[in-house]
Amino acid sequence: MLVLGIESSCDETGIAIYDSQKGLIGHTLHSQIQLHSSYGGVVPELASRDHIKYVIPLIDQLLKNNSTSINSIDAIAYTSGPGLSGALLVGSSLAEALAYSLNIPSIPVHHLEGHILAPLLETEKPSFPFLALLVSGGHTQLIDVKKIGEYNIIGDTLDDAAGEAFDKTAKLLGLDYPGGAALSRLAKKGNFEFELPRPLINSHGLDFSFSGLKTAVLTLVKKQSKLTDEIKANIAFAFQESITDVLVKKTIKGLEETGYKNIVVSGGVGANTKLREKLTFRSELENFKVYFPKLEFCTDNGAMIALAGYLRAHLSSKKNYKFSVKPRWRLSEI
Ligand code: KG4
Ligand code: ZN
Repeated sequence: MLVLGIESSCDETGIAIYDSQKGLIGHTLHSQIQLHSSYGGVVPELASRDHIKYVIPLIDQLLKNNSTSINSIDAIAYTSGPGLSGALLVGSSLAEALAYSLNIPSIPVHHLEGHILAPLLETEKPSFPFLALLVSGGHTQLIDVKKIGEYNIIGDTLDDAAGEAFDKTAKLLGLDYPGGAALSRLAKKGNFEFELPRPLINSHGLDFSFSGLKTAVLTLVKKQSKLTDEIKANIAFAFQESITDVLVKKTIKGLEETGYKNIVVSGGVGANTKLREKLTFRSELENFKVYFPKLEFCTDNGAMIALAGYLRAHLSSKKNYKFSVKPRWRLSEI
């Protein structure tokens, strides 16, 4: 079975083909980061127009690069939420129209399910059940994943998401949007000079809160008479240490509470080297396994949508071609 995956929930147009026998056979991505960077954030109307511009050429290019014809595709998976409604509509209307014209099933996919299942694209796959740490631009969640389609959120952010905290801190340090990766690079040049709070690190539950950390960074920035490159790097270092300490502590607490031995880390912040290092170190020490997607599959991509579509084809593929996007779709509503 060949599944074409289309991701267009935010500022990346991602296309992929997943083969049930061979695994991922190809994927391609167009990022809109440059388009939005001068606005300091994603402009929804520009995002939709850019998806329109790129989605068909990207599909054509991917099919051509893999010597595959559109007629050999057996199903089309696409992100139907959550995300920006206009952007979602581009992918969903194209996917439904293509599926209709080819008389094959269409598979609406939850974007976060795509992220959670992304580590299954790797050769060494986690077995179910596992604990997922989903850390993206809009979400910070600990999810008890019993099987495909059964997701129980056991920890969530009370305010800012981890990626949002990275981006806001990056902005305070004068880095371009989205600053997560740039902040991480800057932190590598920094040293331990400042101590920042580690919100809720010792609290009872598994919830997170990062807005206070961002405010602490703002206060620290304001206190500096001159924000030199060295000070910026040291602030980035302190921020990254704090946020990764909290993420690691809560994840391990989640592991203790579920009794699981496998952790999956996914979403854009899952690309963070410090987070990866700390979790890997603890996993060796405490005898659990941690699975990360490849860096390119941490951030938004079509491969995770094609895979999630394939894995839930038997649950939700349809041939009625009626569709609606779900900009605020909750994982618990799958
Ligand atoms: O999963 P994703 O691509 O989009 C959403 O579904 O939100 O995540 C994007 C987020 C952004 O906030 C970005 O700054 C952050 O992931 N990010 C990183 C890194 N790479 C991307 N944060 C920290 N370190 C990184 N290396
Ligand atoms: Zn995402």
